[in-house]
Amino acid sequence: MHKGANPLAAINSVALAIGRFSSVNEMLEYALAKVLEVVQAEAGCVFLLDEERADLTLAAHRGLSARVVRDLDHLKLGEGISGKVTLTGEPIVIRSLQDDPRVTRHTAAAEGFRGFAAVPLRSNFKTYGTLNIHTRVERLFCEEDVQLITAMASQIGLAVANARLYLDLQASERRFRGLVENAEDLIYLTNDQGRIAYANPAMGRLLGYDPERLYQSGATIVSCAHPLDRETLEALVPRMLAGQVFRSVEFRVMHADGEQFRWFSQTSVPLRDATGAVAGLQCIAHDITDRRAMQEQVARAEQMAHLGRMAAHIAHEIRNPLGAIVNSVNMLRRPDSTRDEHLLEIVSEEADRLNTILTDFLLFARPPARIAVPCDVAELVDSTVTLFRRGGRSWEYADVDSRVAGHLPAVLADPNQMRQVLWNLLANAVEATPAPQRGDLAAKLSAGGGTVDIAVTDDGPGVSNAEAVFEPFYTTKSQGTGLGLAVVARIVRDHGGLVHVENVSGRGARFTVSLPVAPASQTVAAGAPLDSAHRASPQTADIGKPG
Ligand SMILES: Nc1ncnc2c1ncn2[C@@H]1O[C@H](COP(=O)(O)OP(=O)(O)OP(=O)(O)O)[C@@H](O)[C@H]1O
Ligand SMILES: [Mg+2]
Repeated sequence: MHKGANPLAAINSVALAIGRFSSVNEMLEYALAKVLEVVQAEAGCVFLLDEERADLTLAAHRGLSARVVRDLDHLKLGEGISGKVTLTGEPIVIRSLQDDPRVTRHTAAAEGFRGFAAVPLRSNFKTYGTLNIHTRVERLFCEEDVQLITAMASQIGLAVANARLYLDLQASERRFRGLVENAEDLIYLTNDQGRIAYANPAMGRLLGYDPERLYQSGATIVSCAHPLDRETLEALVPRMLAGQVFRSVEFRVMHADGEQFRWFSQTSVPLRDATGAVAGLQCIAHDITDRRAMQEQVARAEQMAHLGRMAAHIAHEIRNPLGAIVNSVNMLRRPDSTRDEHLLEIVSEEADRLNTILTDFLLFARPPARIAVPCDVAELVDSTVTLFRRGGRSWEYADVDSRVAGHLPAVLADPNQMRQVLWNLLANAVEATPAPQRGDLAAKLSAGGGTVDIAVTDDGPGVSNAEAVFEPFYTTKSQGTGLGLAVVARIVRDHGGLVHVENVSGRGARFTVSLPVAPASQTVAAGAPLDSAHRASPQTADIGKPG
């Protein structure tokens, strides 16, 4: 090594310099110049290995003529000195290029170069190529020189490794970015507050938003959603931000014009930082506007068909009593007719029946507004049973048993509508039971404690078609309209509850209504009035069931 060169400073100066370049070749040119300066040599070059092609390319050179550069442009792995150094990872030092048998390319020697050293560019046990030094004087690089050059070469090797990694990363980033940017689906990221921090171009194509403006305006998933979906999302987003994954959440997103909207089905996954904390959300939303439009069309068509069937049923139900009335009136109008009490009775009864059919139908089709208050279930059961015992004209011998288990929590319900539900179930129970007719009504808290279950059980034959009984106009009774259970199902569903039927062995059918328990903060309203239920309950019994 030459006097005055401080090896550590030399290695450092190469290490410091090479971090500053954006292209690998630019960095190599600079590092090579530094190395030549430190070892005081006139010329040098760097070969880089292309592993796939097993071929070395001249990536940087200094002090070599154009002819030498052309000659050294490419080398096969293993070919010549540089090819061997790359293959073995061992440096090669030559005193004079002119008479060394290992030399295969002779232009450098022909141009007067003598002393030569080639060291591998290594990092992490991998060889990336060689760093070659040429001197015009004969010179045998000593052990110390080779160590210094090797140390600098490994800095260069590390920089090449990093640069390649960086380029690979950039290429992969470009690939994924292309995937996201060309996607038909909406892909966006939010921060840990749910604010949109990135949105792909689909945001512009589908919804007319300029992504940049969207970020600046502090838009969130909720603020972009259709007003009718905001409440649902307001409940969901905090759970998403708490780390829960949600798939296929369907909601509408407003267009930037503030008037149109599109339907999306979204999957959201939490983004986590290095500590595992949720740093935001990654959301992919698939446009399902066309599918929704189709579903709505089908639903509308079904609704129309349903309406048509209902109208036919009502017409049919009304035609019989109407026919009886018309016949009776025609008979009464005959010139020879005297006042016939029996015919008058028929007119009155059939008119009652018409009234019941229409009242039932209206109750089913357009239930009165529900005023839900926390209700004491025991009180509900008691009052219904009392009214039932008093009022059932058709069930003279009917008996109703009621059992309420312990102290039950309140349920949120409209008491009149709930009494109507229990009344209809009791009516079916006693109608299904042979004389002496009886049914029993039992209420208890469900196992999970979330609902109060009220069951009406009878000793009849049980139900043969559990699906059909809740359908409007399904009846097996000569005088039934088949609306009793349809009304029950509708009211219970409107209360957020469930109703189901099962056959109990040794007994008959059991209908169970499950109602959600009222939140603890709500106290039972005092004495909800026993006003008229709308169906054939005692208050309306006079125009209710035919006796
Ligand atoms: N407790 C029961 N046991 C056996 N079958 C029943 C029972 N309750 C209802 N069903 C069956 O379900 C049908 C529908 O009942 P639903 O109460 O809707 O109408 P309905 O009783 O026939 O007429 P209405 O409109 O007068 O109530 C009944 O006709 C009957 O076949
Ligand atoms: Mg009924």
